[in-house]
Amino acid sequence: MFEFKFRMPTSIIVGRNALVKNSKRLRGLGHKCLIVTGLESSKLNGSLEDSITALENENIKYIIFDEVQERPTLEIIEKAYQENKGNGIDFILAVGGGSAIDAAKAISILFRNQIQAKEILSLKNLEGIPIVAVPTTAGPGSETTPYSVVYLQEEGISRSTGQRIFPGIAFLDARYTLNKPYDITTCTAVDGFSHLAEGYLSTKSNLLTDTLAEKGLRLFGECIEPLRKKDCSIEVREKLLMASSIGGMVISQTGTSLPHGMGYVLTAEKHVPHGVANGLLFPGYLKNFRKTDKLERLLHLIKVASIEELSLILKEILHFRNVSLTDAEIKKYVDDMLSSEKKLKNHPERVSREDLTNIYKTLLRKEES
Ligand SMILES: [Fe+2]
Repeated sequence: MFEFKFRMPTSIIVGRNALVKNSKRLRGLGHKCLIVTGLESSKLNGSLEDSITALENENIKYIIFDEVQERPTLEIIEKAYQENKGNGIDFILAVGGGSAIDAAKAISILFRNQIQAKEILSLKNLEGIPIVAVPTTAGPGSETTPYSVVYLQEEGISRSTGQRIFPGIAFLDARYTLNKPYDITTCTAVDGFSHLAEGYLSTKSNLLTDTLAEKGLRLFGECIEPLRKKDCSIEVREKLLMASSIGGMVISQTGTSLPHGMGYVLTAEKHVPHGVANGLLFPGYLKNFRKTDKLERLLHLIKVASIEELSLILKEILHFRNVSLTDAEIKKYVDDMLSSEKKLKNHPERVSREDLTNIYKTLLRKEES
């Protein structure tokens, strides 16, 4: 018997030059747009220029806010709103990686509700003004998720706003990812893979998320050999971008699981990039499965023979580096993870303190020497 809910309200428009070719899709969203982006990359990869062309084609006025950085803070989200709240903004065009799109979701809430940025963490079920997403990295998949992660400077941690805001439209054009350096390409690609895999193995997976995840995992699998050979052609990038958006669709239903839950602290405290943190933790997480039928299917889909082989591939493409952790740090991280009921609930088996400690130890600490 099937019993599940599936909601995916984002329209996806895929293809080279998709944004300019389909600019009429922006009609009806309003007369004035706030473009939310980072300082540099959207200017270099052509996505900002295409966004402006698409808006001008439709006679839509726009203002550019280009101050979003990696790990967007509440302060920058507040700034985008305060500087533009009197400007009649109807919708947001989010152009950039996961940070720009995540920030845009939070900013859209401020415009709709006229509240302060910190209030999005405490108020429930807030809505936002419409968002159009133009991702320029393949992996985060924020264009197809309702999640928005913000960085709290005072606490030194990243956390989800707890709100659910899906972009209305996502334009997927892999040309905007072409100038990403190899290390960023593999780091974000592994993030996308971990979304697909954590969703696939989640207790919340269902017929539709499995159907999507299986296709996304196959696409990622087709990119492994090219990535090992440092082939980052447009064809490879198109597969990675598609896999990324599919990963977003999957985790928007299933949420993430142990690698994400355990990896955030490595990013916050040890400055390990998000995708690398997931990649380092992944083999230990997979080894922890006692029931292995779905895990074996996952390895088959990405055409990898064993967890050990996957571990070697991830280390190779991520340029594995050791992360030094003390016993006290591991204990604190395990305590934090054990208190995250949400992430533990998504893992289909019981995990003990020892299991989690071993995942940190075997992958991070032991290989230090
Ligand atoms: Fe992620």
